Amino acid sequence: MKQAIGIDLGGTSIKYALVSEAGDVRFEGKLPSRADESAEAVLEQLSRAADAVLHSARNEGLDGDITGIGLGTPGIVDTDGRRVLGGAENIKGWEQIDVATPLELHTGLKVRVNNDANLMGLGETRYGAGRGCTHVVFLTVGTGIGGAIIIDGHLFSGYGGRGTELGHTPLIANGEQCNCGATGCLEHYASTSALVRRFSSLAQQEGLALDRPADGELITRLYLEGQPLAVKCMEEHFYYLGRGIAGFINIFSPQRVVIGGGICEAGDFYIEQLRRVVAGQVIPSCACQTEIVRATLGNRAGLVGAASLVLE
Ligand code: BGC
Repeated sequence: MKQAIGIDLGGTSIKYALVSEAGDVRFEGKLPSRADESAEAVLEQLSRAADAVLHSARNEGLDGDITGIGLGTPGIVDTDGRRVLGGAENIKGWEQIDVATPLELHTGLKVRVNNDANLMGLGETRYGAGRGCTHVVFLTVGTGIGGAIIIDGHLFSGYGGRGTELGHTPLIANGEQCNCGATGCLEHYASTSALVRRFSSLAQQEGLALDRPADGELITRLYLEGQPLAVKCMEEHFYYLGRGIAGFINIFSPQRVVIGGGICEAGDFYIEQLRRVVAGQVIPSCACQTEIVRATLGNRAGLVGAASLVLE
């Protein structure tokens, strides 16, 4: 059976595996991405990730079945030119760079590249929470907010593959500055980093003592315990994200909106609260065929979607 190496580059780590045509994942691993050093350091780590899979595949006699490498990266990707153009602020020097040729020269395998969230959305549609659907909107909520749009079963990326930066939809008029340079973006108000930033600053103002630095896990736990500041911040989070989702439903009227990212794994309440906000913000006729569901592939979605680029 055909196999491909799937690699998902993030600001902290690189996740990789061998993925079969049927979506089975083997030889899964993780390496630090060294994103705070340099683009060269990150490229080196990508080659190490590919080597790790190739080594295991050779040991099991599977290397002959490998059709190529699919790579997901944050940022705006020129998919034909296989270049990251920019927009990956959490990886040093990761702009105007050919990310595929060095990996291709190193491994001798063909390499295809796309935006990380696009590939997570593709992975979820083919093998996860969007399976069986032709029209899907996917959002990953983490340090940033990434998005993917699947129309008629195909990834929609805009002309020249430069679109679907759903996290950078303007949400708040006269809002605060986002990392992308614009103001008031959905990502700046509704990402997990935004939640942590807001909670930490209010906790400091109110003199709330915490036994460890706040993160998404701590805030969702305190929310479930009814801690008032966590409840306030989570309600704001649901409101911002829910409004963003309502907008995407009005535009695309998808069969499913799939929500991924670590924070949505906190419990069923997360999706339920989003559904509640969306119901109050969306045009009912646009939403009547749309379900909002949690992603099911966890942090494998990106690498599975990446591999599927070269398994088509
Ligand atoms: C970037 C996107 C990326 C998303 C998730 C955002 O900040 O602009 O390109 O897909 O984070 O990593």
